[in-house]
Amino acid sequence: MKERSGFVTKFGAIAAAVGSAVGLGNIWRFPYEAGQNGGGAFLILYVAFVLLLGIPVIVSEFVIGRATHKNAVGALRELAPGTRLHWMPYMGILASLMIISFYSVVCGWIVEYLIMAVSGGMRGHSPHEYAQMFGEFTSNPSRSLAWTWMFLLLNGVVLLGGVKKGIERVANLLMPLLFVILIVFCVNSLMLPEGKQGLKFLFNPDFSKVTSSVVIGAMGQAFFSLSLGLSCLLTYASYFRDDERLVRSAVAVASLDTLVAVLSGIVIFPAVFSYGMAPEAGPKLVFEVLPSIFEQMPGGYVWAVLFFLLLFFASITSTISMSEISITFFQEEWKMTRRSATLLNTVLALLFGGLCALSFGVLSDFKLLGMTIFELFDYVSSNVLLPLGGVFFSLFAGWYMERKVLDRELTNGGRLRVYSYKPLLFCIRYVAPAAIVVVFLYGLGLL
Ligand code: TRP
Repeated sequence: MKERSGFVTKFGAIAAAVGSAVGLGNIWRFPYEAGQNGGGAFLILYVAFVLLLGIPVIVSEFVIGRATHKNAVGALRELAPGTRLHWMPYMGILASLMIISFYSVVCGWIVEYLIMAVSGGMRGHSPHEYAQMFGEFTSNPSRSLAWTWMFLLLNGVVLLGGVKKGIERVANLLMPLLFVILIVFCVNSLMLPEGKQGLKFLFNPDFSKVTSSVVIGAMGQAFFSLSLGLSCLLTYASYFRDDERLVRSAVAVASLDTLVAVLSGIVIFPAVFSYGMAPEAGPKLVFEVLPSIFEQMPGGYVWAVLFFLLLFFASITSTISMSEISITFFQEEWKMTRRSATLLNTVLALLFGGLCALSFGVLSDFKLLGMTIFELFDYVSSNVLLPLGGVFFSLFAGWYMERKVLDRELTNGGRLRVYSYKPLLFCIRYVAPAAIVVVFLYGLGLL
């Protein structure tokens, strides 16, 4: 058996988990979901879900991954021998393929915008014109296919070429810069004419707007943004060192991720109201708004280029982490070589990603359950499959796994005092699984 390499430094381990979590989910998906689901009330529900479900499920995945140092299927086989529980991560592999398919379409838009920013195309248009331009290029089949595929091929090359570590290191160095830039943009947005109204929308909860779809959407967003439920963090934790503090790392990942999402909201909503746009515009929201923000900023050209470049790096660390789930699985379970595993992953993603790319144009009328393929993949993975994965991992860690293994992992073999041990265990065993089930029943109209 080949020695698995571990993360060399502590920073490496947490940074990789943060790299996976922070991505388009924070900067693109959070504002669009918050916009569609009424703003403030959505934000409060989202934060509550991060605390009550997010952190316990992250810890559960971390514990299972590090206890075994194996991929998800291997880990469950070791911890639950003689059962069929190790079939569960297959669902994660399906979900990761669905996510990478629609995610890479959005990454394609980022690349297109980066090129547009570099070539000076983000100058001299009105907010309305930008919205129109965006509509034109996303509905153009060859253009959107080309960008999606180009991005996926790039992702494949990074995974194959052994430069993955390098990219992750660069991305992790750039992440703090992204953070600083977002703060600059926040200040800029707050000075826009309707800055206050944007803030009010984001922070003033109007609970009369809360419906079952808002609650489900907030839960799905928490799972999506934290990279939870499909054994992504489990796979990362399988590379953690034995002295990594799991609870502390989980809290760090959740806090940083949530902070980036909130900052992104503070950038976007003041602009939405100032430019007379609709917060409920959906997936296109930030792409319609951002160019006008840069247009109005002093030094807008540089900001735009820098921002899309950083966003590109933030996204590719997320797609690498998604691809890693199926690649590790193909390698360790189906005994494929790294090369063929990466190839298989890329081919599947090209296929489904292509369908998602076309759903803004030629396939826009092809609907299942009233959703385009892009919307369906997004909805089903985030709102159904990831939370189901969450129920599974929390029940597994909280009830099925031997308590002494859980104790050992949480306290690093008794060397750590974890003050939050009791409440955390309570959340892992009861609160997280029960809340997810309740939200589901509520969503189905059964409650
Ligand atoms: N969390 C990432 C984001 O916010 C997306 C992501 C990466 C993800 N890996 C995942 C989502 C695994 C769910 C599961 O952009």
